[in-house]
Amino acid sequence: MDVAGLIASLEASGLATGIRNSLYLFPLIESAHVVGLTMVFGTILIIDLRLLGLASTQRRFTAIASDVFKWTWLAFAVTVMTGALMFVTNASTYYNNAYFRAKMVLLVLSGLNMLAFELTARRSLHVWDRHAAAPAAGRAVAALSLALWIGVIFLGRWVGFTTSSVPVPADDVDLEKLEDLLPK
Ligand code: HEM
Repeated sequence: MDVAGLIASLEASGLATGIRNSLYLFPLIESAHVVGLTMVFGTILIIDLRLLGLASTQRRFTAIASDVFKWTWLAFAVTVMTGALMFVTNASTYYNNAYFRAKMVLLVLSGLNMLAFELTARRSLHVWDRHAAAPAAGRAVAALSLALWIGVIFLGRWVGFTTSSVPVPADDVDLEKLEDLLPK
C-alpha cells in the first residue's frame, strides 16, 4: 500500500470515524495532548537550564536527570499517542499541511540533538557532573533543544489554525447562511 492509500485507510478506520463523530473526544484528546506536551517541555526545560548553568546549579546533573527523565518519557508517550489519535481523524489534511510536516521534522531533529548529547558531553559527564554548567557541546545541545521544542509548540498551534475548513463567522454574518459553510 502506498502512503496515500495508508492515509486514506487510517482516515476511514472505525477509530477515526468514532473520534470524528463525537462532540467530546477530539477536545478531550487534544487537552490530554496539551497536558502531555507541557510536561515534556517543562521537564526538558529543567534539564536544559541545568546544562546551561542557569538553574539547579547546586545539584549534580545526574541526580536531576534521573529524577526528571522518567516523567519526560511518560509524557512523551502520552503526547505521541494523543497526537496519533488526532492525526488519524483528518490524516490527509494533516499529512499535506506544511506546518504539520515541519513539526515532525523538528521532532526528529530534537531526537538527533539528544543523540549528539550522548556522543559528546555525555561522554565526559564524570568530569562535569558537579560543575555549574555543562561544557560547550552540552550547552550548545541545551540551547538548540530549547529552540527546537519551542518551534514544535509554535508549529503545533499553527497546524490547528491552518487545517480548519470552517471560516470563523464575522459578527454581522447571517447565522442561517452559516449552515452552508459547514461540511455536509
Ligand atoms: C512532544 C511532542 C509534541 C508537541 C510539543 C506538540 C505540540 C502541539 C501543540 C502546541 C498543539 C496545539 C494544541 C492546541 O492548540 O490545543 C498540537 C496539536 C496537535 N498535534 Fe502535537 N505535539 C507533539 C507531538 C505530536 C505528534 C507526535 C503528533 C502526531 C503523531 C501530533 C499531532 C498533533 C495534532 C494532529 C494536533 C491537532 C491540530 C489541530 O488542532 O487540528 N503532535 N501539538
